[in-house]
Amino acid sequence: MPASWKPFHKTMKKSPRTKAPKPTRTVSIIGTGSYVPERILTNADLEKIVETNDEWVTSRTGIKERRIAAEGEHTSHMATHAAKRAMEQAGIEASEIDLIIVATVTPDTFFPSTACHVQRQLGASNAACFDISAACSGFLYGIEIAQQFISNNTYNTILVVGADKLSSIVNWQDRNTAVLFGDGAGAAVLRYRAGSHGVITTFMGSDGNYGDILHMPGGGCAIPVTKENIDQRLNTLHMSGRETFKQAVVSMLAAANKALEQSGLTVNDLTCIIPHQANLRIIEALAERLDVPLSRFQVNLDRYGNTSAAAVAIALDEANRTGRFEVGDYILMVVFGGGLTYASSVVQW
Ligand code: UT7
Repeated sequence: MPASWKPFHKTMKKSPRTKAPKPTRTVSIIGTGSYVPERILTNADLEKIVETNDEWVTSRTGIKERRIAAEGEHTSHMATHAAKRAMEQAGIEASEIDLIIVATVTPDTFFPSTACHVQRQLGASNAACFDISAACSGFLYGIEIAQQFISNNTYNTILVVGADKLSSIVNWQDRNTAVLFGDGAGAAVLRYRAGSHGVITTFMGSDGNYGDILHMPGGGCAIPVTKENIDQRLNTLHMSGRETFKQAVVSMLAAANKALEQSGLTVNDLTCIIPHQANLRIIEALAERLDVPLSRFQVNLDRYGNTSAAAVAIALDEANRTGRFEVGDYILMVVFGGGLTYASSVVQW
């Protein structure tokens, strides 16, 4: 990393977004859903694949097991399962969806977009569809985009899905990364709801200077799919673990504070915090710096590992369905991911 590059949080004040935009229409999350594949891969299973052990993985990450998609089960299939559950909870038909946004870095195909695959599987024929690429931050990027489209009156009902099949890009011989990731999908339906609670504030940021600390170098036009590139494992995920850890804590703390500042709330107003599920030690560091007990955080990485764009969406759905918050409660979602990207959102349920 060139010494001239400043830690990105020092440049965050340059963000053009200094104040929460005043939504002209209230945008609510009216349904959530999630899906994880059936197959469980435990730390003990991983010991047979790569040189690692349960004690190391548990103590360094908090992860005990993760889910792995079945043969032929793609990102769009997981996304569709999660979407159907969110739609069922929201009480809407596929024909009511105006826009489908899928956040993923493991699309079924470069094109058509995974959102178009989901549209076909749902039969949501009235929707426009596109994918967004913001790695683990993608779901909250999607929430912000949906919030903008609904509050400015372009659309009424939007399906946002975070879905990733990271097992398809993990290098299973690299113990630094193979133990961390899993597959899954989470979804939310957003809609205009007059005079009700909803998305209070959203915040997004990025710093491309840190792109190479967590990336997949191959597969795009820069390093196309060739036998040589595949042999060098350039089509797999590469990560500098320690650097990513550091940036994760700094960026999630900054994004959390930004969302609180924009919403005029303090941490004491929050019933529940839903963070990105990458490493329990990252969440503990965030809890300590925000001065909030860990018990107020929704944590499921012990069961699913890091599911990338799906992580915060699955955690939101689990928190919602297990009654961790009630109507009127404030929740904070906060994420970070490859790019670097980071994002946060305060929602009054
Ligand atoms: O969505 C965002 C994605 N990524 C993240 O958020 C990841 C952020 N980073 C992390 O979570 C942590 O840095 C890791 C879990 C990846 C690594 O933990 P660490 O405490 O930073 O370990 P380390 O990379 O400093 O490695 C410490 C030791 C090394 O051995 P030596 O050189 O000290 O002998 C590694 O080779 O642990 C070794 N090690 C392992 N040992 C057993 C690394 N991975 C493993 C493993 N099993 N799976």
